[in-house]
Parts: sequence; structure tokens; C-alpha cells
Amino acid sequence: MIKTVKTVDLKGKRVIMRVDFNVPMKDGVVQDDTRIVAAIPTIKYILAQGAKTLTLMSHLGDPAKDAEKAKSKAEKDGKAFDLDKYIKGKHRMEPVAAYLQKKLGKTAPVVFAGEDGCYGKKAFIDGQKDGTVIMLENTRFHKEETAKDAKELDKLAKALAEYGDIFVNDAFGTAHRDHASTASIAKFVPLSVAGFLMEKEVNYLEPIVTNPAKPLVAIIGGAKVSSKIAVLESLLKNASALVIGGGMAFTFLKAQGKKIGTSLVEDDQIDTAKKILEAAKAAGAEIVLPLDHVGADKYDAAAKPVAIGKVDIPDKLMGLDVGPKTVAKYKQVLAKAKTIVWNGPVGVFEFDAFAKGTEEVAKLVAEATSKGVITVVGGGDSVAAVNKFKLASKMSHVSTGGGASLELLEGKALPGIEVTRGREYFIAGNWKMHMSRGESAALAKALVKSLKSGKHKYLAAPSFTALQAVGEVLAGSNILLGAQNCAAEEQGAHTGEVSVLQLKDLGVQVIILGHSERRHSYKEDDTLINTKVKLALKHGFEVILCIGETLEEREKGKVEAVCKTQTEKGLAGVTPQELAKVTIAYEPVWAIGTGKTATPEDAQAVHKFVRGVVEKLYGSQAAKRIVIQYGGSVKPENARELMAMADIDGALVGGASLKAETFAPIAKFD
Ligand code: 13P
Repeated sequence: MIKTVKTVDLKGKRVIMRVDFNVPMKDGVVQDDTRIVAAIPTIKYILAQGAKTLTLMSHLGDPAKDAEKAKSKAEKDGKAFDLDKYIKGKHRMEPVAAYLQKKLGKTAPVVFAGEDGCYGKKAFIDGQKDGTVIMLENTRFHKEETAKDAKELDKLAKALAEYGDIFVNDAFGTAHRDHASTASIAKFVPLSVAGFLMEKEVNYLEPIVTNPAKPLVAIIGGAKVSSKIAVLESLLKNASALVIGGGMAFTFLKAQGKKIGTSLVEDDQIDTAKKILEAAKAAGAEIVLPLDHVGADKYDAAAKPVAIGKVDIPDKLMGLDVGPKTVAKYKQVLAKAKTIVWNGPVGVFEFDAFAKGTEEVAKLVAEATSKGVITVVGGGDSVAAVNKFKLASKMSHVSTGGGASLELLEGKALPGIEVTRGREYFIAGNWKMHMSRGESAALAKALVKSLKSGKHKYLAAPSFTALQAVGEVLAGSNILLGAQNCAAEEQGAHTGEVSVLQLKDLGVQVIILGHSERRHSYKEDDTLINTKVKLALKHGFEVILCIGETLEEREKGKVEAVCKTQTEKGLAGVTPQELAKVTIAYEPVWAIGTGKTATPEDAQAVHKFVRGVVEKLYGSQAAKRIVIQYGGSVKPENARELMAMADIDGALVGGASLKAETFAPIAKFD
């Protein structure tokens, strides 16, 4: 969960805030103020809370690169090039500060901190009267802003950190950049939180990858398969249908052996397209490709549109838009969705003659929104399309980020978002081999009621036989449905086993793997557990990977060695993206069901060690983010002191999870 400005006391504080004021400029005049307007709610809120000063920082274009390009263009055209004038007109923040002043009116004075850059401004800022907004010069005038080397990044980050007691990041558009002003600064400011724009973006985009209202239908278009592979793979995990349109559809059609005429194609991506088609089949997701087209003999706004009433395109024509049969199919597929995500147009909508398909998609998505479907539009071109058709206000959310929204949909952790994440607690109940269906459903009902106001992440993992009954009770609640194990194979002759496909069919979201009872009573080894972990992740489940030493291993001083091996081997081959869906549960075997709990200090020491193992494997961001639960005789009496430890992020509860009266106080320990 990200922390927002709402969670901190801003009164009398100096706030330093990253905004995305990278607006198009011409001769020092703002051409489009969308991004400035988008930051105003957070700016006004901070001022209204009585912040002492609010210092804003942003990049504006890329001065060095842009100037290089403009200069060589001028040389080619035989024109004179005035570098100072060019930079002044396109990259200086002073006109943006003036524009913001106009927008804020009497709310607050806005002052520009000077063209000499972002260093050495503490005295200037502290000298302003209370409630002043200070705009710093373009952060990208300093090469440290975008440096690859952490020391360089930190040099600017430290200087910027001097200007605030609290860092607010509201620049979603640059959240995917690991820059001094977007991420590194958080290392040097006591508190980092997100602004309202960032919060809204994350709240709409993240659940699409983690836990969407299903069925999820994704519409992915655009020119190139190569730029969308990661997002297709990520969405496949939750989508019931993937609509593939735009130029990239032809690579898929060619992969299926269809005729595509002279349409755009990436021959080097045909194998990738085939793999995605196979993966979709395995995941049970429908792939929707164009059934007919609107084509032309050339790629030109003035080209004469030709209706092509079938999939195969004649030799001399290229497809530039989808036809009416395809739109009818889209209508059918979208009608089933509870969530729709749209990234990339389905035709060349910039040319009016080939805009119809994309316009129809925009209309269908708008119509779905009016029926209560959650609709999210992300990516520069589809946003331009909904703006062109004046339908932006008819979507649940239109993202302000191009690269950032794509990377979030790919399931990546974005540096500018990670720094605003508060601690996330995850409290899970492992019901083991207890209770009938009826008893399980009754417990689930009681939990839904008592955890409704709970602030953390919750899970109930009944036995296989009760999954359906419990799933029906938990649907739509804030408690996830978990299974206690899965088979290492997808399907086949495996008497007595239960597969991931069957669990998915039951609506299971999380699978507990490597529990010590599986390791010790059923002789599951690290290799088998790892196979299951990878299989579950491949099918889009979250995984709780259990680790922990026996009493004998503890007495022999092998705690760290055992936990290290079980973590490393359990996670072997798990990608950094997949790791975002993994929770580790440290359950010392001697503490399970025995009433003996590790002391909070003992448990903390092991948790810290395990986080270090994750850091070596995946880096510090991932280590900071991963949730590590403690398990072993967690009770209402000890939950609070365990959760107070720096590296204990939740609990995996056995015995005490079997009654709402004991589980609810653990789940709401604070
Ligand atoms: P107890 O809470 O009963 O010790 O069980 C812990 C456990 O094994 C949870 O998975």
C-alpha cells in the first residue's frame, strides 16, 4: 500500500514535492497545461494543511539531448542556431512557475528559485514567508539527475533533500525513472509519501495486475509486438480475453498462417507471437484478433479506404483499421467484462478514414463504464484517441503516464512509487485439515464481518474440500482465498493431487507452498517446492513460500543456513516481476502448534537475515518490499509485539485462525 499526504502531519513542515511539469513549451509559452492542472489538488491540499514552504521540482524536456537534436537539424537546414534562446524557450522553469501562479491565484505566492540550478537554495527557501510555493529550475540541467552511478544520483538527491522535512512524489509520469528527484531523494528525507495523482494512478492500475475484478478483458494495440510482449504476458495471468489490435495484430495473424498483404509486420517476432498464443491457450484466455479490415494500398492519410470483409488481406493491400465484423466481436467480448484495460489503438486513428475501429472501441469502453465496469485507459496513443473522440471523461481512469503506466501493467516495481510505500501487513489463516464445508463457510462469514474494517491484507486458506463454499462467502470481501498446496504438474495422471488450473477454476488467489508439514511429513524437498512455486506464479497466483528450521537444526546452530537454502532454492528461477507476488513465511518448525513462540527478538533476527538473502538475489528495492510473515503459535496475546518488529510484516496463523474470536484480534492487532 502506498502512503499518501493524507497520512502525515504537514503543519509547519517544509515540503519538497516532485511534480511532472514536463509540459510542451514553445518560445517560453506553455502549450498544454494538463500536467500542471493534474498536480493542483495535491498542491492545494498541502498548503491548506499549513505547510511552511512547498518546494516543487520537475524536469522539463531533456535540455542536453533536445539541444543536440535541434542544433543538428538547424545545421542540416542551413539555419542559425541560438542555444541560449532555444533553452530559454523550451527548458527554463520560470514561465512554468508564472503559469502556476496564474492557476493558483490568491491561494499562494509562487516564486522561482533562479536559473542557476537546484543546488544551494536552502537559505532562499527558508527565507520565504510561510505558505510560499517555490519552483526550482529544471532538474535535468544537472547531469546527476539521470546518472547511472548511485553516488552521482545521491549528490543531487542530498542537496534536494535539504529543502524538505517530507518528500511528496506526485509525478506519476516519471515514476518509472530511478532518478535523483524521483527516487534517490527518499533516502535522505525522513518521510516520503505520494500525492493524490500518484495515488489515483496506482489505485486504478495496480489492481489490474494484482487482483482485478474479473472477468478482465485487455485491449492491447499499437504498432509493435516487441514493445508489448511484457505487458501481454503480464495481463494473460488475469485476463479472460486479450483483444489484440493495431499494427501488431498482423504479426499474430501471420503467425497463424493468415495472409496479411503488405501490412506492417515484425518477422522477427513471429515466434514470440506463437508463444503468446500458446500461453493464452494454456491460461484459458481467449485471444481476439481482427476478423476483417479496412485497408488501403499505401500508408497515407489520403489513401482510399477499401473494405476487406475477411481475415486474409489481398497481396497489394495493407490493413489500417479493423472492420465491422471485428467491432461486433469486440462488443460481444467486452459485454462480459467487469474490468477493461485499454493500451494502444486498434487502427491508424490519426488518419480520419481509418479511425472508425478505434472510435468504436472508445465508445464500447465508455458504454461499459456507464454500466459500472472499471475501465482504465493507459499509454500515450490510446489516451490521445479517447481525447480525440471526446470520451476521456467517460472512462473510470485515463492515465497521465505513458511508460510508467505500461511498466505498472507489466507488473514491474516502479522506483518513484516504491519510495512511497508504507509498511504492508499480511495476516493469513491456514486452516489446515480442519472443519467441514459448513463450518468453514460459517467461519468465513464471521471473518468477513469482523475484518470489514481491517486495514491490512488478509487471507483464509481452507482445505481443498471447502474452497468452493468459502470462496462464495469471501467473493467481493477484503479477504483473499488461499489453497494450502498444489500439484507440481498442470494436469494428467496424478491420483490424489489438485492442480493450479483447478484452483484457478475455484477462484483461489494465493497458494501456500513448502509448509513445514509438507516438507517433513510428506517429504517435499526444495526442488519440488520450487517447481510448484514457479508453476503457481506462471498461472498468476500469489505464493506464500514457507521456510523454517527444526529444533534439531536450531540446536546445531543451523538456523541461518537452513533459511538461506530454503529461500534461495525456493525462489530459483523466479523473475523480479514474479517476486512481487511472493510472500515468505518464516515458521520455525518447533514453534508450530506447540504453544512455543519464538521471542519477537529471535524472530526479528531471522526475518532480517532472510530479507538480506532476498536483497542479494533481487536488490534492495525488492528486499524492502517483500512481505515476510512469522508463523508458529501466533495468538492474540503476542501478535502485537511480533508485528512491532522492523522486519515482521504479518503472520501465518494456524490454530488461532480456526475461530473468528481469536483470528480477528490478530488480524486487527493495532
Ligand atoms: P500454529 O499457529 O497453530 O502454530 O500454526 C502455524 C502454522 O503452521 C501456520 O501455517
